[in-house]
Amino acid sequence: MFRSINNNQSELITIYFEGKALRVQKDLNVATALLEAGISNFRETTIKNENRGPYCMMGVCFDCLINIDGMDNQQSCMVKVSDGMKINRQITRNTSQDEQ
Ligand code: FES
Repeated sequence: MFRSINNNQSELITIYFEGKALRVQKDLNVATALLEAGISNFRETTIKNENRGPYCMMGVCFDCLINIDGMDNQQSCMVKVSDGMKINRQITRNTSQDEQ
């Protein structure tokens, strides 16, 4: 879906998305690294459980929230990848819908 227009490839590191190892350039932010790997579904909305992914890529829209190293609500477009980083989709179930 996305590919880098930067021809200057930097050193590769390993990150893990939902347990799957991905080799990515070390100078990327998390959102860019995942998009380049073909991953665009980063979280589900709380109310309707709709899929969301990065939109603005500059820290404004908060659609890129994701779980990084066990912490929810990380803005993936603002966090640089690091070797061994563990990333998971952010799923927050709306329990009030379950009661209806
Ligand atoms: S993509 Fe908008 S805040 Fe990260």
